[in-house]
Amino acid sequence: MRHLISIADLTNEEIEEIFALADDAQNLRAVKPASGQIMATLFYEPSTRTRLSFESAMQRLGGSVISCSDMKASSTAKGETIADTARVVSSYADVLVVRHHWDGAVQAMAEQADVPVINAGDGSHEHPTQTLCDLYTLRKEKGAIKGLTVVLCGDLKNGRTIHSLVYALARFGANVVTLAANGMALPQYVLEHLERDYDYALTPVDADDLGAVVTETDALYLTPKQPHQLALFTQVDQVIQAQLNTMAAGLRYDVFYMTRKQKERMGDGSPDEGYPTIGRDFLRAQRFQDTVVMHPLPRVDELSPEVDKDRRGIYFKQAAYGVPVRMALLKFLFDRRAQKRSAAKRSTIPYESPERLGPQCRNPNCVTLKEPVSSARRFELRLPVQDDALILTCSYCDHRFKVQFAGNVKSKRYHFFDSALAPALNDWLSKGELALFDSIKEAEELGYEPFKSGPHRVLMADAEIRNALAEMSAAILRDCRDPERLLILGVRSAGSQLAQRLAAEIEIRCGCKPEVGEVEIYGPGEELRRISPAEADAGALNLRDREVILVDDVIFTGRTVKSVLSIIFRSARPQSVRLAVLIDRGHREVPVKPNYVGKNIPSSEHDRVRVRLRELDADQTDQVVIYSIVNPSETRVQAAEPSTSGGN
Ligand code: CP
Repeated sequence: MRHLISIADLTNEEIEEIFALADDAQNLRAVKPASGQIMATLFYEPSTRTRLSFESAMQRLGGSVISCSDMKASSTAKGETIADTARVVSSYADVLVVRHHWDGAVQAMAEQADVPVINAGDGSHEHPTQTLCDLYTLRKEKGAIKGLTVVLCGDLKNGRTIHSLVYALARFGANVVTLAANGMALPQYVLEHLERDYDYALTPVDADDLGAVVTETDALYLTPKQPHQLALFTQVDQVIQAQLNTMAAGLRYDVFYMTRKQKERMGDGSPDEGYPTIGRDFLRAQRFQDTVVMHPLPRVDELSPEVDKDRRGIYFKQAAYGVPVRMALLKFLFDRRAQKRSAAKRSTIPYESPERLGPQCRNPNCVTLKEPVSSARRFELRLPVQDDALILTCSYCDHRFKVQFAGNVKSKRYHFFDSALAPALNDWLSKGELALFDSIKEAEELGYEPFKSGPHRVLMADAEIRNALAEMSAAILRDCRDPERLLILGVRSAGSQLAQRLAAEIEIRCGCKPEVGEVEIYGPGEELRRISPAEADAGALNLRDREVILVDDVIFTGRTVKSVLSIIFRSARPQSVRLAVLIDRGHREVPVKPNYVGKNIPSSEHDRVRVRLRELDADQTDQVVIYSIVNPSETRVQAAEPSTSGGN
C-alpha cells in the first residue's frame, strides 16, 4: 500500500508529476476521478488549512468525506488505540488523512490500514503535504528551486513543516540559511540526515545583515559540501572569520520562510522575547527587496500584517495552493493504490531486536513510547559501522540515539560497543543474531555474559595522565586571549571529567576557574549543559563569542568531534573552538586536528583504547589501557572479564 508519511516517500520525479497534475486541477475538477471514493479525516490536533483544503480537494475530485469533528468525542476518549482506530476507519474509507500530536503516530496507523494514509502532521516530526504546497509555491513564484537560497526562520526545532521542507530543499538543490530563535535550532538528527543523505554541510555565517529580522541569533548556511566547510572550524581564527563574513555578505536571500513558535510542544514559561519577527524593518531593507516571504500559517505575532499588502508576502497564495496540490496528491495516490511504499534511497538497514528486551527510542514524544501497543521497536541501523558509536534511528520518528551494548544471541555474550566489533556485528545482523541493549542490566536479565578480552597493556599511568593534563592546561592558558571568555566543554562522559580536571588546573595557574560545560551527542535530553558554576541562577550555557576548549578522552575517526562541532555552531557562534584530547590514536576519517594532545598512541582499529578514570570506573587510579576483544564470534566457553564502561 502506498502511503505518504514522510517527504522521503516521494521521489523528485513523483513530486514533479504531482505538480503537473496540480497545474491541471481544473481538468481534474471536471473529470472527477475520485467519484464514489470516500476520504476519512482523523485530526487529533487542530487545523484549518490542512483539513479544509484536503476536504475541499476530495469534494472537487468528485469524492466525499467522513470525519470526526473532534477526536476527543471519538472512541479515543474511551481508550481506543490509534492502531485499532486506523484499522477500523480504513474499512470505512478509501484514504485516511491523519494529524496527530505524537511523532511517528501516522506511521503506526499506516501499518494497520488497508488504504493509503496521508500524514497531515505528526508531532514535531514531519508535515509532507505542507512541503508539497511550499515547493509548488516556490516553483510558481521563482521557477526552478535549484540554486535558490531559502532562509528558514523561527522555531526550527519543533516546526514539523520545517523538517519536511529542509529535506526537500536539499533534494532539489537549494541552499538553506537557518535562522533559529534562541534554543529552537534545527535538531541534530535533521542536520545529520542532510549531511548523510544529501551531502550537505553547514557553515556558520554572520547574521548581521539579517538584523532586520533578528539581532540575537546566529545563522547557519547549509549547502552541498564545499572546501571551506572541511576546515571544520577547530580553529576559528580571524582569517576564517573574515572568509565567513565575506561569504555572508555575498548571499542573495530569495525566500524568507517564517514560522511561529510551536507553543503547544513546549513547557510553559519559554520566553517570547528575542523571537524573530518580520515587519517594517524587513520591508525597508535594501537587502530583501527581492525576497519573498512565506509562512505555513497560522501566524501569531512573528509576521506583521503590513507584509500582507506587500508584493513579497505570498503566504495566502501558498495556503490557496493547498487545494490543487492536495487534489493532485489524492489522484496520484489513488492511481498507485496497488504499489508498495516507494523505496526511498536509504543507506540504513532495518533492525528489530531478536530479544524481548532491547533499545527504546529516546524521544519522549515518540509513538513507540506513548503507545507501545500500536508500534514495534523497529529501527534503522547504519552499516557498515564506521562511527565510534553504534547509532540507531527510530523508524517512526527519525530520532537517532547511541546504543551502548552489542551481543550475540547464540553465544549469549555482550560487550560495550566498540568499532573493533564492526565486522562481527555485520555478520550477526545478517544472520539475525545481533542483540543490542541499552544497559548491562537488560543484557544480564536475559542471561548474557561479557565477552572475553585479551591482556590489557597500560599505556599511561596515573602520574603521566596528571602531568599531561597539567601541560595541556598550561598550553591552553598560553593560547588564551581572554581567560574570562574561556569555556571548557567536555564530551560526555570521560571528556566531561577531563574538562573538569583541566578547569581545576587552570584555576591553580591563573586564580580564576573557567566555566565548564558538557556536550552529549544522541543523548535523551539537552545537548549542551553547564557543569560549573552549578548555581541555578547562572542561566543557560552561552557559547556566543566564547573561547571554547572542546575536551575528549580519545580521538580516532574524528566523527565525534565533527558532530559536536555542529552542535556547538547550531547553538551559537563562539569566537574560537580548540580541541584538547588525552589520546590521539592517529587515524582520521574527518580532517580535524587536535590543538592539545596528552599522548599520541598510533593504534589499529582492532585495538581498543580505553581511558579509565577514577570518577567513572570506580578504580583507585587513572589509566589508559590498550587491548583487543578475543574472537567475538566464538560461542561461550567461560566467563570473561567484564569491560563495560565508556571509551573508544
Ligand atoms: N499549515 C498548516 O498546517 O495549517 P493548519 O494547522 O491550519 O492545518
